[in-house]
Amino acid sequence: MMTITATLFFILGVLTLCTSGLLIPPTNENIYYMGRIDKSDNTQYTFAWSGAEISILLTGTTSVSPVLDSTGQNYFNVIIDFTMFPMLNVSSSSPQPYNITETLSLDPTETYNIILTKRTEASIGLINFYGFEVDDTAQLLPYPDIPRRSIEFIGDSITCGYGDLGVPPCEFEARTEDNFMTYGALIARELEAELYIEAWSGKGVVRNYQAPNITSNGTFPTFYPLTIPTESTNYWDFSDFQPDAVVINLGTNDFSSEPIPPQDIFQNGYISFVNFIKSKYTNNPTFFLACGPMIGNPCCQYVQNVATTVNAIYIDMQGILNTNDYGCNGHPNVSGHSKMASIASPIIQKNMGW
Ligand SMILES: *[C@@H]1O[C@H](CO)[C@@H](O)[C@H](O)[C@H]1NC(C)=O
Ligand SMILES: *[C@@H]1O[C@H](CO)[C@@H](O)[C@H](O)[C@H]1NC(C)=O
Ligand SMILES: *[C@@H]1O[C@H](CO)[C@@H](O)[C@H](O)[C@H]1NC(C)=O
Ligand SMILES: *[C@@H]1O[C@H](CO)[C@@H](O)[C@H](O)[C@H]1NC(C)=O
Ligand SMILES: *[C@@H]1O[C@H](CO)[C@@H](O)[C@H](O)[C@H]1NC(C)=O
Repeated sequence: MMTITATLFFILGVLTLCTSGLLIPPTNENIYYMGRIDKSDNTQYTFAWSGAEISILLTGTTSVSPVLDSTGQNYFNVIIDFTMFPMLNVSSSSPQPYNITETLSLDPTETYNIILTKRTEASIGLINFYGFEVDDTAQLLPYPDIPRRSIEFIGDSITCGYGDLGVPPCEFEARTEDNFMTYGALIARELEAELYIEAWSGKGVVRNYQAPNITSNGTFPTFYPLTIPTESTNYWDFSDFQPDAVVINLGTNDFSSEPIPPQDIFQNGYISFVNFIKSKYTNNPTFFLACGPMIGNPCCQYVQNVATTVNAIYIDMQGILNTNDYGCNGHPNVSGHSKMASIASPIIQKNMGW
């Protein structure tokens, strides 16, 4: 209770400093959210996974400022009327209004479609969203572009978009990770599907990147059930989102260094993970298991075996990248991701009847 009250005073303080304005709270029914969002506190919604999105249709205001804080160096894309604006740098741990209309003065008689999307991955830090600061006369209209289809992508650094904007040679930096340009996001836009992504760099199915043993603790399946993956008891309510299709691209980290896990341990771990996801979805979604483009056999053969066992469709992405498709540390850049999308998208489309 103390924290909520303190936070409220803080936001009110921020607002008074700025303008006489209105704060549209995160609970407004016309705000459309995508991705896992913790809505347990009415004054601040919390999220961390890559690609989480907040979308609004807004009129009656000359400016709009989402009020956000962050526990790390996060970045967002800002898309207004389908045009990309400069990215938002959200790194302050105290709530700040981010004026996203600094380079564009809004006409209050016009209606604007505004999308904020989290570029950076969960390991970078979590975000609290306190609402939109707008003029007194502002109004949100029901968000019009809610897709009928839905798809979930589960993976590691590739699915996060690690280094996809980097020019090699380069190491990881938050600013060169843009989830919006990954194969998952490209496919969801192309197939007009609602998108949830859960991904974490370095995580494997039974063994994380460069772990000393053939298995390790804290692999991806440990984090998957969580709304905020750094909060070990903050469990996601799977009834909130039942995707039509689930795409998993894991295994690269298990096999990218010695000692690799034995076939039975990897396959059994992967099968248990898929069965766990199946147990959470009552709508019987179609599963796709992808392998590549940063790993080959034996990993991909094992993933294909798992796909057969769990009745999933296997998507092969081995060896598809050429020298013009790399960003940082051997990861696909935007052109590599569009190649991945061009392989996976038709397979998903055909099998889903989309
Ligand atoms: C984002 O802001 C942080 C903190 O002010 C700063 O260190 C960082 O360089 C900024 N990033 C970019 C890309 O400007
Ligand atoms: C946001 O920036 C625009 C352009 O500089 C300015 O007109 C507007 O007053 C700003 N809004 C707030 C709330 O500061
Ligand atoms: C290595 O992994 C195997 C298989 O999971 C486990 O039985 C063993 O205890 C692990 N060894 C160490 C040193 O953690
Ligand atoms: C893994 O977790 C188990 C149970 O919590 C613990 O006993 C073991 O020491 C951990 N192993 C490593 C390598 O951290
Ligand atoms: C991808 O990376 C290559 C090599 O670094 C570069 O030449 C190319 O322009 C990049 N493509 C895109 C779309 O970023």
